[in-house]
Amino acid sequence: MKNISTYVNQHKDRFLEELIDLLKIPSISADSAYKKDVLHTAEVVKTRLEEAGCDHVEICETAGYPIVYGEKIIDKDLPTVLVYGHYDVQPPDPLNLWNSPPFEPVIKKTELHPEGAIFARGACDDKGQMYMHVKALEFMTKTNQLPCNVKFMIEGEEEVGSSNLAIFVKENQEKLKNDVILISDTGIIAKDVPSITTGLRGLSYVEVEVTGPNRDLHSGLYGGAVANPINVLAKMIASLHDENNHITIPGFYDKVEELSKEERAEMAKAPFSLEAYKKSLDIDAVYGEAGYTTNERNSIRPTLDVNGIWGGYTGEGAKTVIASKAYAKISMRLVPHQDWENITQLFKTHFESIAPKGVKVEVKPHHGGQGYVTPIDSIGYQAASKAYFDSFGKTPIPQRSGGSIPIVSLFEQELKSKTILMGFGLDSDAIHSPNEHYGLFNYYKGIETIPLFYKYFTELSE
Ligand code: BES
Ligand code: MN
Ligand code: MN
Repeated sequence: MKNISTYVNQHKDRFLEELIDLLKIPSISADSAYKKDVLHTAEVVKTRLEEAGCDHVEICETAGYPIVYGEKIIDKDLPTVLVYGHYDVQPPDPLNLWNSPPFEPVIKKTELHPEGAIFARGACDDKGQMYMHVKALEFMTKTNQLPCNVKFMIEGEEEVGSSNLAIFVKENQEKLKNDVILISDTGIIAKDVPSITTGLRGLSYVEVEVTGPNRDLHSGLYGGAVANPINVLAKMIASLHDENNHITIPGFYDKVEELSKEERAEMAKAPFSLEAYKKSLDIDAVYGEAGYTTNERNSIRPTLDVNGIWGGYTGEGAKTVIASKAYAKISMRLVPHQDWENITQLFKTHFESIAPKGVKVEVKPHHGGQGYVTPIDSIGYQAASKAYFDSFGKTPIPQRSGGSIPIVSLFEQELKSKTILMGFGLDSDAIHSPNEHYGLFNYYKGIETIPLFYKYFTELSE
């Protein structure tokens, strides 16, 4: 393809300004106070897709936030790439830990990003990465180099489980028909170590509520004589792992695929420094399931983590009280073949069974999704691999990720096509955390790499 880097260079500043404008809108899907902003973001995405060269763009209403759909069909006989991304973002809290306000983007240099990185909620996950595709389309249409058909499907509820997108996909199979699905919502190993994500973990997310006495009690008058729901909950949660950090829920590991020695040896070849890992997190030791390495623990093994726990008095000073209720939010990351609804049921049965007398336990399932693995011999993977090779000068390493994009397995089930996870983020980008950022290097590199995917995918499809 001609002149990608020249084009990106010429339009660098505008590409950045446009992303900054998008990042200024607080499209927090989890918080209904931001409804107007989420809806406004969809409108902006629509306009940007039109400007970038889509022939037809529409806002598709759902029971929740809308899906922005756009397309440019140049020839029915050519392959079609379906781009998926999300315009919603995670809540930015805790706000006091941000060095600059989450919705007032700033460019700052960091050790890893001497060229600068853009700091804002959604910078990497996923506005920055999604917008690379819009700019890649602009390049291809403005220079008459779009080699195939393209469809865009940008949703506003990824961070809250994509339940309405699932319905939309099931109801619009013909409209969404494609030869490959392309997503940039994952990462690479390092700026000079490109990688392609070949697997995502599944997810089961639940909330638990433990109820003891019918009201909050004086902890002197009643302490020791009735079950304290917070003590009980802490003990129940602690019992979910054994001394080897295996999860104790009966049946939890039944469907887990054990990788062969060869596959594990292959995985271990990816560059990784345990020292640097510990240093970057300020921890003196890693922690996890016995018998597995850090990179295995966070990709090919299922896990269970408390995401939040509350109850009782947490205000200033002290209050002597036994709370009536205690709560926790728990996520389980799953590997391919573990069925998330089955795991949710196993959790519920087990958690209820370990409750001591004197408390009531309620388990409320939230959302979830299946894991995903993609083969590396597909045309899509090969095209992505060649594209990274051209722009990074190195063949990318296939790598399974620990994160989840639950809708990907549904895409395969409903649309019968493979997803290529062409991400450009770094683990250090602090997605979902305070001070989320996205390297300018990564942003521009992504814009340069994506058109090459289109080119190679079209060539390999012939
Ligand atoms: N983009 C992330 C997932 C991700 C990040 C995968 C980095 C691999 C590498 C996505 O927006 C996300 O946060 N997913 C959620 C699940 C969703 C149901 C809320 C997650 O993984 O917690
Ligand atoms: Mn994301
Ligand atoms: Mn996310």
